[in-house]
Amino acid sequence: MSAFDTIVHLVYLACATSFVAGLHLMNAPATARRGNRISAVGMTVAILTTAVVLIDQGGLTSPAVLALVIGSVAGGAAGLIAARRVKMTAMPQLVSLFNAVGGGAAALIALGDRAASAQAAVTGVLDVAIGAVTFTGSLVASGKLAGRIPGRPITVPSGRWISAGLAVAAVAMGIWFVAGDAEPWLLAGVAVAALAAGVLLTLPIGGADMPVVISLLNACTGTAVAMAGFVLESTPLIIAGGLVGAAGAILTKLMADAMNRPIGAIIAGGYGTGDAVAVAAGPGSASVREITPDDAAIQLAYAGKVVIVPGYGLAAAQAQHEAVALAEALTERGVEVTYAIHPVAGRMPGHMNVLLAEANAPYPQLRDLEESNPEFARTDVVLVVGANDVTNPAARRPGNPVSGMPILDVDKARSVIVLKRSLGHGYAGIDNELYTDPRTAMLFADAKAGLAALLSGLHAYAS
Ligand code: TAP
Repeated sequence: MSAFDTIVHLVYLACATSFVAGLHLMNAPATARRGNRISAVGMTVAILTTAVVLIDQGGLTSPAVLALVIGSVAGGAAGLIAARRVKMTAMPQLVSLFNAVGGGAAALIALGDRAASAQAAVTGVLDVAIGAVTFTGSLVASGKLAGRIPGRPITVPSGRWISAGLAVAAVAMGIWFVAGDAEPWLLAGVAVAALAAGVLLTLPIGGADMPVVISLLNACTGTAVAMAGFVLESTPLIIAGGLVGAAGAILTKLMADAMNRPIGAIIAGGYGTGDAVAVAAGPGSASVREITPDDAAIQLAYAGKVVIVPGYGLAAAQAQHEAVALAEALTERGVEVTYAIHPVAGRMPGHMNVLLAEANAPYPQLRDLEESNPEFARTDVVLVVGANDVTNPAARRPGNPVSGMPILDVDKARSVIVLKRSLGHGYAGIDNELYTDPRTAMLFADAKAGLAALLSGLHAYAS
């Protein structure tokens, strides 16, 4: 190995280390931005090093340089603009689009590269198959979340049989490609079958299950990229793809566990439309106790310890700033305030952490499920803001859609105030027994307006 090769390998090793270190720093909100930057720097260095290697090998012709520059500038600009403009609540569909681009690019690499060996042919086929499924699957997932495709499960007549037929055809063509003369049309056939399968597999899945599906597709993108790394014999691509694949797979498992839904059942589809706003009963229902914003504000003001439980409704109303303003006002009065964050509150991983971080909620006040649950017994008031399923005591009993899901034990607190617009259902589509608990009072309002009313009540009656 020449000195040049040794240096290149060492640089690639440093880049891979930066990916791992970056991922590790993303574990905590306080260090996540730094982690992202470190990984981005590592990836930039890896790309530049690859360009240097290509120049050294004489592989960079003028048209290739032009294509690289135009592609990088156009792609980089599109990514930058999209990431800057995207609303926090539209993040999952943007991630899904990025997955589509990653999977599609990985598939194109193998389609454009003539297999030099049997091993390269195997990884090439896998790259094309996984990348193409990810491409169309992610486009459908993104369309569902953005509302461009109906979020309800869409079943194609005999869809499962067609998908099975496509899978058999793709496997047969793949084996033929590897065992035979690596005919390009066979690889193209694998791509077409996989593109169709991606659509057929994603359409029957309900919009509300999409975040888990997107995480799964993210794992597929990583795997396809790693396969592309084998095709190109590129170490950084193999490492980066392997890390994304593993991280996506772990996240998918964690989300499915926290929702208490097997991954297989999610892929089978038919659950959670994501569209309908189910309303079980509205304000004025005889079975629940209502509270006015002023009374709720007084109760909060004279509490010793308050826990705020944010949920999907807080995100939908974009009420994170009002929540933090209320928490600050209470803290100034000497009330101990923390936020209890359920791992699947909202509609995407880390949804509540991201929103509260955006509103500058102090990190030490953010508590996860395990930290929060022992605290509820010594809590005076729990303020549930737009959360539903993650607080439903029905989860402790078998036989319903949330059975077995770990919940925030808010019903163990001395009193609970639930701020939401009605007795409408959450994602799981069932009544919440918390609302009829004698210790619970319902504050029927939009989360943003309700929190603002609580804050003015606090200033008016408890200053
Ligand atoms: P949900 O159980 O979905 O309940 C959200 C509640 O917010 C609804 O009952 C709704 O009631 C209320 N709401 C909606 N808009 C509102 C607004 N503008 N102001 C006030 N309230 C509003 O939410 P959750 O407790 O956060 O639970 C999340 C659910 O999503 C879980 O079942 C979880 O399994 C599922 N899920 C999560 C993820 C991830 S990764 N986070 C992924 C997929 C699925 P009203 O209509 O009465 O206002």
